[in-house]
Amino acid sequence: MADDFLTRLPKVELHLHIEGTLEPELMFALAERNGVKLPYSDIEAARAAYDFTDLQSFLDLYFQGMSVLLTARDFHDLAIDYFRRAAAEGVVHVEMHIDPQAHLARGVSFATIMEGLLAACREARDELDLSTAMILAFLRDQPAEDALQVLEQAGPWLEHFSAVGLDSAEQGNPPSKFREVFHRAAELGLARVAHAGEEGPPTYIREALDELDVCRIDHGVRAIEDVELLERLADESIVLTVCPLSNVRLKVVEHLEQHSLPRLIDAGLNITLNSDDPAYFGGGMRENFAACQRAFDWSDETLSWLASNAIEAAFMDEQRRDLLR
Ligand code: ADE
Ligand code: ZN
Repeated sequence: MADDFLTRLPKVELHLHIEGTLEPELMFALAERNGVKLPYSDIEAARAAYDFTDLQSFLDLYFQGMSVLLTARDFHDLAIDYFRRAAAEGVVHVEMHIDPQAHLARGVSFATIMEGLLAACREARDELDLSTAMILAFLRDQPAEDALQVLEQAGPWLEHFSAVGLDSAEQGNPPSKFREVFHRAAELGLARVAHAGEEGPPTYIREALDELDVCRIDHGVRAIEDVELLERLADESIVLTVCPLSNVRLKVVEHLEQHSLPRLIDAGLNITLNSDDPAYFGGGMRENFAACQRAFDWSDETLSWLASNAIEAAFMDEQRRDLLR
């Protein structure tokens, strides 16, 4: 990895799905280890299949890919493989969404998921000087009652979660559907974040703020369609965790040059850059920063400001934050 400005810049990742870090190489290795059959003839065929038309076309392959994750060792290998890559490109803190429902539905226990991920997080801290936080994500295309059940099941591991989140198919699954479970999460002392305004309308961003009391909006790029909402997001300093390469690969925008990012920044929003599902979208944190630098001709000062926004918005203790500032 080059020793350049973007690599050295301490990058904090606030929007990452750990299951979206599964590179085809590891997917094939785990499939072999576990006797799972994949729908791809080889690694190249898997990569070639990552040609998405929208969020759902990606989600289909994302859920398919994670079928190789069965044991605690698999979850450990998934996470540590990613943490090593991230640390090598200058990432210093990772907040990962986890989709327990996607694993529980395949007969993988909560204990299995957590045993593997927590072991990898300890190694990241001790060996890579990489801090981590976990976000318990609910699949929004599943019933709200299932989300409540998952929150219940998370009980023994709740201390390891900083927040709850909301992901998967957005259209037709408004934040208000999850009012009750987010309220319960708040009672349990968890912070709240939600995907909103990725494919869904700006009203979903309002709902996430008003009904789920979120402190961060994941994506939020469709806020650009609503001037009043932009003013509110700026006034309340709501953090947007924007994922540029993801937005291009999922056809939220056709070309990065057309992305609303510069306009969102001009509107005074608290913007951060993130990688979402780097194994599927063609790049990690460094490449997301680099692609924006190329597309928008951003100065080092702008890129440093984006990185420092994420440090301030992270779920980390103040000692660690001070160290990274
Ligand atoms: N799950 C994984 N990646 C996602 C994304 N970009 N949007 C919604 N749900 C997701
Ligand atoms: Zn996401």
